[in-house]
Amino acid sequence: MTDESFTSALTCEGLRYSFGQTRAVDDLDLSVASGEIFGLLGPNGAGKTTAIRCVTTLLPVRSGMVRVFGRDAATEPMAVRRLLGYVPQQLSADSRLTGRENVSLFARVFDIPRRERAARVTQALEAVGLADVADRLAETYSGGMVRRLELAQALVSAPRLLILDEPTIGLDPIARAGVWEHIQAVRAATGMTVLVTTHYMDEADQYCDRVALMHQGRVRAIGTPGQLTEELRARRGDESAPTLEDVFRDVAGSDLNEEGGAFRDVRRARNTASRVG
Ligand SMILES: Nc1ncnc2c1ncn2[C@@H]1O[C@H](COP(=O)(O)OP(=O)(O)O)[C@@H](O)[C@H]1O
Ligand SMILES: [Mg+2]
Repeated sequence: MTDESFTSALTCEGLRYSFGQTRAVDDLDLSVASGEIFGLLGPNGAGKTTAIRCVTTLLPVRSGMVRVFGRDAATEPMAVRRLLGYVPQQLSADSRLTGRENVSLFARVFDIPRRERAARVTQALEAVGLADVADRLAETYSGGMVRRLELAQALVSAPRLLILDEPTIGLDPIARAGVWEHIQAVRAATGMTVLVTTHYMDEADQYCDRVALMHQGRVRAIGTPGQLTEELRARRGDESAPTLEDVFRDVAGSDLNEEGGAFRDVRRARNTASRVG
């Protein structure tokens, strides 16, 4: 079977990863269909970054199985890497270079043929709405523009699976919406599969086709945001429409302690923002 025949972009089965005594990922099962925007959701410390670092082959898969379009991350890491684009949570753009230079650097790293490079770089910058400012230094960009530049860096190699770790963390609501709209536009234009982590439940509800709710290394619920909220509503038998955050609280149950604060803080920040804005 060729890569093309796989309708599953990503499959994780029984994935485990520990840092010493800390079991960061605990028996994770996940399947992302080709062409989906899939959200891996959970509070800080849930294991999202560790799980995706296993998928990207940055961490070794020692226990369990990870396949990207049928390729095994443990035994074919190079093949897996060639299928992936990855935007890490921490800054991956160089502020002393222009937007175009940053993307060009990635084009060279990914061995894009020299005669195609300039056009591919321009195309990636256009896809994220940075064509007009491509020749300005990245240090003059706003937080949202830097995040979109990092998206262009990951897009220049035309990955089949794009992995974004907290792409909107720390951005204001307008910039967040801008990042998501470009992710959606790229998916619509290319059919690329997108795996995104976030602890902002409201964004996932709005922009993801399906989500997995992760807590303490495990997936506690998986489905479309509509399915998950409807299931909770039916289970509670009440009239009010629950949010994805309510679903998370329901599946995490009494395990939720100080981590719940993250959601409350986000909600408070948003309420403040909407009052101010
Ligand atoms: N390099 C590391 N060394 C030790 N512990 C780590 C390391 N990275 C993550 N952890 C721990 O693993 C757990 C999951 O972390 P992480 O995958 O970063 O979660 P998330 O991305 O959901 O916030 C946490 O308990 C965290 O403290
Ligand atoms: Mg993380």
